[in-house]
Amino acid sequence: MSQIYARITGTGSALPERVVSNAELEKIVDTSDEWIRTRTGIQQRHIAADGETTGDLATMAAQRALEAAGVKASELDLIVLGTTTPDLIFPSTACLVQHRLGANGCAAFDLNAACSGFVYALGVADKFIRSGQSKKVLVIGAETLTRMVDWTERESCVLFGDGAGAVVLEASAEPGIYATCLHADGGFKHLLYNPVGVSVGFKDEPNHGVRIQMAGREVFKVAVKTLDALVDETLQAAGMEASQIDWLIPHQANLRIIEATVKRLHMPMEQVVVTVDQHANTSSGSVPLALDFAVRSGKVQRGQTLLLEAFGGGFTWASALLRY
Ligand code: ACO
Repeated sequence: MSQIYARITGTGSALPERVVSNAELEKIVDTSDEWIRTRTGIQQRHIAADGETTGDLATMAAQRALEAAGVKASELDLIVLGTTTPDLIFPSTACLVQHRLGANGCAAFDLNAACSGFVYALGVADKFIRSGQSKKVLVIGAETLTRMVDWTERESCVLFGDGAGAVVLEASAEPGIYATCLHADGGFKHLLYNPVGVSVGFKDEPNHGVRIQMAGREVFKVAVKTLDALVDETLQAAGMEASQIDWLIPHQANLRIIEATVKRLHMPMEQVVVTVDQHANTSSGSVPLALDFAVRSGKVQRGQTLLLEAFGGGFTWASALLRY
C-alpha cells in the first residue's frame, strides 16, 4: 500500500475587532512604544471583547478554513483544538466548536501544550491520517490569552494578544507533512506558568489568581537554544536540507527569538513569515494565524516547503516540516 500523507487543503483565521496599540499600553503601565518595539517587535495586539470567547474565534477561523478547502463540516472525522484558554473547564472547546459547525458525531478534543498547542495538534492529526484512522481533520489553535494577563505587570502584559487559526488536513497520496517533532520538559514549569486551577484551587485575588507568571529572560534563553536543536532534528527527520525550505513560519512570541532561529538556518528574513508586530503572542493561535496570513497574502504558494515551529509553557516545543 502506498504511503498516506496529511495535506493542508485550507487555512483560516480570526482576530477580535479591538486593536490595542503600544501607545495605549503606555497609559496603563510604565512602558514605552520604543521599549516594546525594540525588545519584542510588537506594535499592536487584538483583544477579545467582553463575552467573546476562544470558541467564538475558533469557530470563525474553522469556517474560513473549511470554506477554503471546500470541505463540509459534516465530512470531518476529527477536530483537534490546541488551547490553554478553553471557554469552559468542560466540555472541551473542540466539542463546542464541533456543534456550532454542525460536525456532530466526529471525534473532538482539546490539546493543551501552551504556545505549542497548534503544532502539537498538527502532529497528532498527522498520525491519525497516516494511520488511516481519519481522512478529513480540522486542526485549530485558538486563544484568549489576554484573559490571563495581569495588566499591572509590564514585563508580561505587553507581550500577548488574542486570536485563532485553523487548517483542514486531508489524506492524500501526495505530501503533505513530511515530519513532525514534539517535545516537552516539565522541569521548566517554574519559568512560565499559571499558578491556579480546579485541582490546586483558586486564590482570593483579582481574577481569582489567574495570571501568567514568567521569567522572561530565562524563557528567552531556553527558547533560542531549544529551537536551534529542533530545527536540526526536524530537517534530519525529513531527510532535508535547510536550503530546501521556502518559508519559516515560527511561533510569534518575540522578533528577536525568531531572528536567532533564522540565523541558525542561514535564511534571509524575507523567507520568514512575521506577524508578531500585528498580533503579538497569541499562543496556540500564533502559527496558524501567521500561516493563514501568508497564504491569503499570496506569499505562501502551493508546492512550497514550510517549516512550522513553536515553543511554550511546560516547556513544550514542536515543529512540522511540510509541503503546502
Ligand atoms: N516596558 C519597559 N521596561 C520594561 C518592560 C516594559 N514592558 N518590561 C521589562 N522592562 C525592563 C525591566 O524591568 C528591565 O529593567 P532593569 O534593566 O532596570 O532591570 C529591562 O526592561 C530589561 O529587562 P529584561 O527582562 O532583561 O528584557 P529582555 O530584553 O529580556 O526582554 C522580554 C524581556 C521581552 C520578556 C524577553 O525576555 C522575552 O521575550 N522573553 C520570552 C518571553 C516569551 O516568549 N514568553 C512567552 C512564551 S510562550 C507561552 O507559552 C506563553
